[in-house]
Amino acid sequence: MSSAPEDRIRLIDTDAVPAHIAVIMDGNGRWARQRNLPRIAGHRAGIQSVREILEASVELGVGALTLYAFSTENWKRPPSEVRALMELLREYLDREIDNLDRNDIRFETLGDSSALGPVIRSELEHAVERTADNGGLRFNVALNYSGRDELLRAVNAILTQAKDDPRLLEGVTEEHISRHLYTAGLADPDLLIRTSGEWRVSNFLLWQIAYSEIWVTDTLWPDFRRPHLYDAIIAYQKRERRYGGLTPALAR
Ligand code: FPP
Repeated sequence: MSSAPEDRIRLIDTDAVPAHIAVIMDGNGRWARQRNLPRIAGHRAGIQSVREILEASVELGVGALTLYAFSTENWKRPPSEVRALMELLREYLDREIDNLDRNDIRFETLGDSSALGPVIRSELEHAVERTADNGGLRFNVALNYSGRDELLRAVNAILTQAKDDPRLLEGVTEEHISRHLYTAGLADPDLLIRTSGEWRVSNFLLWQIAYSEIWVTDTLWPDFRRPHLYDAIIAYQKRERRYGGLTPALAR
């Protein structure tokens, strides 16, 4: 691309910005290893990317940004790394909550937060409550999240409901399932970004990404900044979204 990275914003059609962007932030460990730093230094650098991508999303008018911060599988990491990640999240909330609120951002978490420590849980609850009435960008952080677990919970919740409402046993609709997901009330992501060149969805938003456009970049998450987001959106805007149907040209 010939234009300077920051100038690429001009190539974005501001009327067709994805309403919901989801991101699998990957490559923090490799970023740190390349610099002979401990893995946590990569996570720490990744926080700056979180700030920048959130800020750019607000500026561009993105409706929702969902970041995959901690999967149910991430508990398999060394306890020191898990502790450090939770501490980073706590620090982030401490520092940013005023700023999120001031910018009308609504903060929410996706996942089973009951398994998180009491301190981080109460900070998260506080942030969710404090920003609950904000009408700007919806900022969702997936924590102790698993897409399969989310679907199982939805199915089990519907089965429980069916005890009182046996009509459910005649058939469950997509709406029933969507209503029982952590993302209830949120539009599905239009664009799923994964950094660090891995072509996997890693148990993230399995139901919700059915028709998302996927953008994989080799850039490691701590290096993923505004211009990289612009590139992903520019590529998204060149895609033809067919949702399984045909475009007029193909239908002829
Ligand atoms: C993946 O890199 C990254 C994570 C598992 C954690 C990402 C979390 C943050 C950036 C902090 C979250 C904070 C907020 C505020 C949302 P990796 O460790 O798997 O990297 P590797 O594949 O190179 O080892």
